[in-house]
Amino acid sequence: MNKAIRIGLAGFGTVGSGTYAVLERNQHDLQRRAGCPLTVTRIACRTPARTEGKVSSDCLVSSDWRDIIDDANIDVVIEVMGGIEPARTFILAAIDAGKHVITANKALLAHHGNEIFAAARQKGVMVMFEAAVAGGVPIIKTLREGLAANRIEHVAGIINGTSNYILSTMREKGLAFEEVLADAQRLGYAEADPTFDIDGQDAAHKLCILASLAFGIPINFDACHIEGIRGLDPRDIAFAEELGYRIKLLGVTKRRDNGFELRVHPSLVPKRRLIANVEGVMNSVVVKGDAVDSVLLYGRGAGAEPTASAVIADLVDVVRMMDAATEHQVPFLGFRLPEDECGTWLAMGETVTSYYLRVRLADRAGVLADVTRIFAENDISIEALIQREAEPGSSMTDAVMLTHSAMEASVVEAIAAIEALDTVNGRVVMLRKEELN
Ligand code: HSE
Repeated sequence: MNKAIRIGLAGFGTVGSGTYAVLERNQHDLQRRAGCPLTVTRIACRTPARTEGKVSSDCLVSSDWRDIIDDANIDVVIEVMGGIEPARTFILAAIDAGKHVITANKALLAHHGNEIFAAARQKGVMVMFEAAVAGGVPIIKTLREGLAANRIEHVAGIINGTSNYILSTMREKGLAFEEVLADAQRLGYAEADPTFDIDGQDAAHKLCILASLAFGIPINFDACHIEGIRGLDPRDIAFAEELGYRIKLLGVTKRRDNGFELRVHPSLVPKRRLIANVEGVMNSVVVKGDAVDSVLLYGRGAGAEPTASAVIADLVDVVRMMDAATEHQVPFLGFRLPEDECGTWLAMGETVTSYYLRVRLADRAGVLADVTRIFAENDISIEALIQREAEPGSSMTDAVMLTHSAMEASVVEAIAAIEALDTVNGRVVMLRKEELN
């Protein structure tokens, strides 16, 4: 057996303590897989008292991450502090000190990944990040290695468990968004400040990383169009259901002839697709490659041990590759020199997909004809249409339309013309539809 690999763990919250516990519990199998013992020799965390009774007395614990950097015996650092700072400074210092890095930090990679990968390449150390996207679901390794033969066409995923839980519960119980969110917070599923989850930023952080791996281009968070699920009306969930669709917060990145789409928003997905049936806090990602066709991964996107599973898989990979020359190691984003090709990110108006539109209109002759004329003028073809009878005591009703594929800019123009009709009340609800076929 080779000498033990010494690990510095920065952060001892849910993921840090889960990682320590799984490393201890499975140490026998892990030694056999990695070829040597894997030992956490130092922990740095805000409240060292939290480690009491949970870690070996041989493990040094402090509240200063610099103690890990300064320890020349540490080979690999695991960053599970979260947030941008001091995580960024810690990781760059670890790289500078010649230590390999494993991180679960999607926000940091979305904003500073290019800088971190460049520093690591220059220093000849590895940076691994399986836990940063979809927790325990091994989507990074799948894209980077398992699907390396393919030209990736699209990646679409439910990569935020909190918003998926809210959407599932709204549909199952017919409840309003605010009501389900309040319940999720009371039960501890959603953070006290759930902004990043429900407004789509968390999914966008993860999607940017996936897009970069899929297409071999630098991470570009600013190119991502982001819409969350706040304000989604239960009526649209019910109409979608009636038309054979589920609404999911999807991260979608697609290769097109003139560039790449990169977008997070609520999407209608046909009920018959497996991913449409991913409920509660679970995550799932579909990848379409030219050779393999569609591959779907499913599992827990958060939680102590599912995330630890991804962190430790990276650790085993790092140890297996440690002695390989840098050029023989697996490139971080799966491509060598990805910065050579920047790629073009398409603006949202250039997106081509199909649409769900709900229009509140007067229930009288000729009104629907005006709406469909506007669609025809904008070269948008209608695939399905539902119109309800006017509610008792009202002359207004909902008309719901599904379109065939159209360019988003044309749909936006048509919506503006429809909203200007004096027989139409309020805003048109517009949601995108992904067939994923
Ligand atoms: N807050 C995330 C979610 C988990 O709800 O999926 C961590 O990425």
